[in-house]
Amino acid sequence: MPGRRVTGSFSSLFLCATVAGFCVSAQTRPATPSGIASFSSITSASPLPNGVELHHGDLVMQITALREDVLRIRASNTGALPEDASWAVLAEARAASVNVTQDSDENTVTFHTAALHVSINRATGLMTLTDSTGTVLRQDAEPMQFDGNGFRLADTMPADEHYFGLGDKTGAFDHREAAFRLWNTDAYGWQESTDPLYKSIPFYLTYRAGVSLGVLIDNTWPSSFDFGKTVGNTVQYRAEGGPANIYILYGPSAKEVLKSYAWLTGPTPLPPLWTLGFQQSRYSYMTQDRVLQVAEQLRKDKIPSDAVYLDIDYQEKNRPFTINKDAFPDMAAMVKTLHAEKFHVVAITDLHIPFLPGQDYPPFNSGVAGDEFVKNSDGTTFVGKVWPGPSVFPDFTRAQTRAWWGTLYKNLAQIGIDGFWNDMNEPSVFNDLKTMPCSAVHRIDEPGFAIRTATHCEIHNVYGMENSRATFEGQLALKPDVRPFVLTRASYAGGQRYAATWTGDNSATWNHLRLTTSMLKNLGLSGFALAGADVGGYAGTPTPELLTKWLEIAAFQPIDRDHAEKGTGDHEVWANGPAQEDIRRRFIETRYRLLPYLYTVTEEDTHTGLPLLRPLFLEFPDAAADRHPLDVDLNTSGEFMVGPDLLVAAPAFEDQSGDYEATLPSRGWYDFWTGRQVAEGLEKVQAGGLQPESALGPVLLAVRVHRDLSTLPVFVRPGTILPIEPLVQSTEEQPSGPLTLRVFPGPNCGGHLYQDDGTSFAYKRGEFLQMAFSCQTSENQTGITIHIGKHAGSYPAWWNEIAVQVNGLSTRPSSVTVNGKPANFTYADTSATIVAKDSGDGIDVVVESTAH
Ligand code: NOJ
Repeated sequence: MPGRRVTGSFSSLFLCATVAGFCVSAQTRPATPSGIASFSSITSASPLPNGVELHHGDLVMQITALREDVLRIRASNTGALPEDASWAVLAEARAASVNVTQDSDENTVTFHTAALHVSINRATGLMTLTDSTGTVLRQDAEPMQFDGNGFRLADTMPADEHYFGLGDKTGAFDHREAAFRLWNTDAYGWQESTDPLYKSIPFYLTYRAGVSLGVLIDNTWPSSFDFGKTVGNTVQYRAEGGPANIYILYGPSAKEVLKSYAWLTGPTPLPPLWTLGFQQSRYSYMTQDRVLQVAEQLRKDKIPSDAVYLDIDYQEKNRPFTINKDAFPDMAAMVKTLHAEKFHVVAITDLHIPFLPGQDYPPFNSGVAGDEFVKNSDGTTFVGKVWPGPSVFPDFTRAQTRAWWGTLYKNLAQIGIDGFWNDMNEPSVFNDLKTMPCSAVHRIDEPGFAIRTATHCEIHNVYGMENSRATFEGQLALKPDVRPFVLTRASYAGGQRYAATWTGDNSATWNHLRLTTSMLKNLGLSGFALAGADVGGYAGTPTPELLTKWLEIAAFQPIDRDHAEKGTGDHEVWANGPAQEDIRRRFIETRYRLLPYLYTVTEEDTHTGLPLLRPLFLEFPDAAADRHPLDVDLNTSGEFMVGPDLLVAAPAFEDQSGDYEATLPSRGWYDFWTGRQVAEGLEKVQAGGLQPESALGPVLLAVRVHRDLSTLPVFVRPGTILPIEPLVQSTEEQPSGPLTLRVFPGPNCGGHLYQDDGTSFAYKRGEFLQMAFSCQTSENQTGITIHIGKHAGSYPAWWNEIAVQVNGLSTRPSSVTVNGKPANFTYADTSATIVAKDSGDGIDVVVESTAH
């Protein structure tokens, strides 16, 4: 769509005053209204087919329904609505519309959809949102207020409401009584109280007695969220500029909100399978020989692994897209050797381009030729110091610049580098501001946007996302049938479309290991399903015990990458001797055996927006008697779900000594390691107080867990069928032997499997393999029937046989049949195993016992 071109010199277009350390710019909006104005009453209102338009003087607001359960609010103080363009929200979603029913009367402007009622009090301008039964979902505490270019929202905060999301925020998992700033920041050495961090995801999820709303405030300017910290019982939001553009997603379940958020901002694309393998990194493996040695040791020590990373020292003087030939004399040969050893190679490519006029450095020269770099307000190019020294910065808000950036990868892609790491893209600059000044100028030239200039203040929070987008799209252009892998540090809402992420420069402390769990949960609730933390901690050297425990827990997290800062002690799995290494290896091996499950859940995420690492409340909203999220309870706070079926029960405080209690959301769970059902009646706890079980429905089970370095409690939900593969050393290796289905009988028993070639887009052409499994316990509890579904899709299975392992059998089965014919089985320690040929047409296994 062609846009309106704004002409004039840069200096005439930008005025930049600094407020609280941030530039508040008079940008290219129709006028710069001054003073404070709020929707303190509605002076006129008109119905729209899909909502209403409201006015108060120069203030205008449209509330429209994109779907029955999704609303959009757009408002401005200039008399006209802001431009309908977004870096985050898909154009198709913004264009969606449903007709509403108008119910206004003399006191209120009101309309409803099938799911939601919206009512604005004409006298006060306050909006109330209710569900179709009249339950209040959201209520303004104050009307929307504009002050110059900024605006402010204030909502009431019910006493039992909880708040999650906002990306990589640290501190407690629940954001209640906390406040945060959104301003992407290179936060080296961040600690529990550090804010802001690297990403700005202005999306939060409310959760109250099992009911969720999602709120996306699509505003890229510096902004803040305050969940009752400053003013009790009020959620406040303030943006220092930019449009008021708010989306409200109604659940009622949190799962439905996440699905709607994926609809709004786009799902995570299916990553290459190898990115779910174990990844080894360090700042930096300094030479080609060292990289090869590390890879060799991983194979020699039989540590299953899939990727090695090249940090900035592989480059000539830290210059992106160069190779230091002294240290890496034959990078192509190195990559070839690593590929032969079934490794993938990820190389860092920072976005700063060293300022090297007159030298033979193509990224700078071609960038200058194409006018690709961010400017100062006087039209000169902005130069700031980063790793390579004085540098210039691509203007990723231009489609042309992103396409140019993509071409810079040609050589690295040609020698076979498999993935790229976009670091320092807040952008980090080594100056007092730690970034570019707000007065720097970007040129938006982009399908769907008006062509105009914008201050860095407006663009800062989307800059890293657009960097990762340019890298992602560049890979696709270079290798159209290979799924790209990009790891980014900075991002914005919707950034999951382009890249996985990590939590930046954490520290090698027990507290940082603890914080990882809530950060990854919140990232998953903010669209970033593919996330990890530097395993072992980036800053400092972990103690042997800390590194071991971290490797154990990270084996169950989406991105499992061991990474360390320059100058720290060795971090690799073998560091600290064979006893530690044996424990660490066992957990990484478990991750590899679980790959069919991890990949299946990851593929599901591309349709559902449900992350691999989940808070308990997402799966068990009804577990507590008062339906509060279990994760906010102290002894549950270290726990997390891996997909819908596995619960990892890390302790709340990682360095606490002594045994502890893990909380399970119901009875009947199984110990993942032994397959045995967790004993009934150990100790039952009622969330919300000790009340008789009968009055409260679900019962939480508190299980006393013995703490020791070599074990990590992992439980399986009753009713799970878990696909497991034989151990491989790399995802490039074809597993040999049967696929195992571990059956854990219980209610709604079932499972799925998704497989494909792991690297290409052939799955979009039907080359995948999908199977569904179910199990039923007979009414008299003596028989279990397991149904293994037909193969769907054209991708061939790597197995010929399936080993069905039925757990929870207290006695040896009296008979087993496969497709109606008697079959052999083995029985040991409450589980029976039957091996059946799998022709792809479906299998029925019936296990009869006198009791189990
Ligand atoms: C900062 C990143 O956060 C870290 O992971 C990396 O090792 C260094 N930059 C050097 O590239």
